[in-house]
Amino acid sequence: MAAYLSEWLSLLIRWFHVIAGVAWIGASFYFIWLDNHLEDPPEWKKKKGIKGDLWAVHGGGFYEVAKYKLGPEKMPGILHWFKWEAYSTWLSGTALLFSVYYFGSPGYLIDNAKMELSTLSAALIGLGFIGGVLLVYELLIRSPLARNGMAFGAVLFALLLVVDWALFQVFAGRGAFIHVGAVIGTLMVGNVFLGIMPSQRALVETVEQGREPDERVAQLAALAKLRSTHNNYLTLPVIFIMISNHYPMLYGHAHGWLILAAIGFITAFARHFFNLKHRGVYRPSIILACGIMTVILIGVIAPPTGKQAAAQAAAAAEAAGEVSDADIHSLVSTHCAGCHAKEPSSPAFQAAPAGIALDTLDEVVQHNDQIMQAAVNSQYMPLGNTTGMTEEDRKKLGAWLQAHK
Ligand code: HEC
Repeated sequence: MAAYLSEWLSLLIRWFHVIAGVAWIGASFYFIWLDNHLEDPPEWKKKKGIKGDLWAVHGGGFYEVAKYKLGPEKMPGILHWFKWEAYSTWLSGTALLFSVYYFGSPGYLIDNAKMELSTLSAALIGLGFIGGVLLVYELLIRSPLARNGMAFGAVLFALLLVVDWALFQVFAGRGAFIHVGAVIGTLMVGNVFLGIMPSQRALVETVEQGREPDERVAQLAALAKLRSTHNNYLTLPVIFIMISNHYPMLYGHAHGWLILAAIGFITAFARHFFNLKHRGVYRPSIILACGIMTVILIGVIAPPTGKQAAAQAAAAAEAAGEVSDADIHSLVSTHCAGCHAKEPSSPAFQAAPAGIALDTLDEVVQHNDQIMQAAVNSQYMPLGNTTGMTEEDRKKLGAWLQAHK
């Protein structure tokens, strides 16, 4: 019952998290779009201090949007802020991290072959990474480095690369992926909370008091702009990471951290195309390059196929000796069926995970390709290798699966 309720809890939090994320990124894309489509306003608007306006039609009505150079003469009674989209995304994401990884299935996080950790120490390491990177970023953005946008961007990428690599040394692939995502998401929300909001508050105050913005307000605004540029480039990578942790072909790969880095680079570069396009600079070569890099990545990480796979399986079979059905039945019972059964004996699962029950050899054959990917080509399964499946076992399983295609 506990496992059943905890599944529901994580489903409901996930649902909320996705909605909050859509609202956050959606609002952020909308405002970037607005900024880039403002037209020169008519004279009478300019006199009011409006620097750009635009017209739009949506949902059965016309909208007239105007952006002020500084602010209106008098602060309106109701001013909309956009911050709870970001905060609720982060809060629900953190709740999900706890419910799925720290309380739910620490097997996603802990891989005894990499590091033997207790659930508590794994959680502390995970949270330590998230807090630590936020701290380093906040120190950097207050340093002279912040004056050089390009250099800062390069340092930020290098920092994330090191974090990505380090997390893969400590955690199972899936847990490492989600923590890289959580680190990036936290930086983004930190940017809103620690930089963009204070800058907006200072601006509102200035306008309310009818003053011209002073040095402090201008400086806050410049840093807020840098933070929002970072957030802009991180949107596509962070979303990719959040969904890619459902694909073992990526995180279960021996070089998962490099794959993640490549995807981060490609998706951030793709964002660059849109940013330029919004400014009227149209560079399809960027999207083309991203497409080519993606195809290369797909090719490079592809599992062995055809002759190559057959040769590998033959070599494995020879090394493993004759593999009988009974061998495989006992191997699967020992290493898989505790979780992957119609009625799992593991208390952590109410139903067969990923809908894959392996009670019979027919079912093993039915999921041939998936099992090959999860337990032979990668060591993603058994989860956290709690059952201590050996290389020898994997070779046997691979040879048998190859013979039963
Ligand atoms: C401790 C429980 C546990 C054990 C033991 C375990 N699995 Fe899994 N397995 C899971 C969970 C949980 C998922 C869903 C993971 C996800 O969504 O990423 C899963 C998913 C899978 C998938 C689907 C992966 C995909 O494509 O998304 C396959 C295939 C699989 N397991 C095979 C195996 C095999 C083969 C074994 C034994 C060698 C095994 N598992 C042992 C818990 C377990």
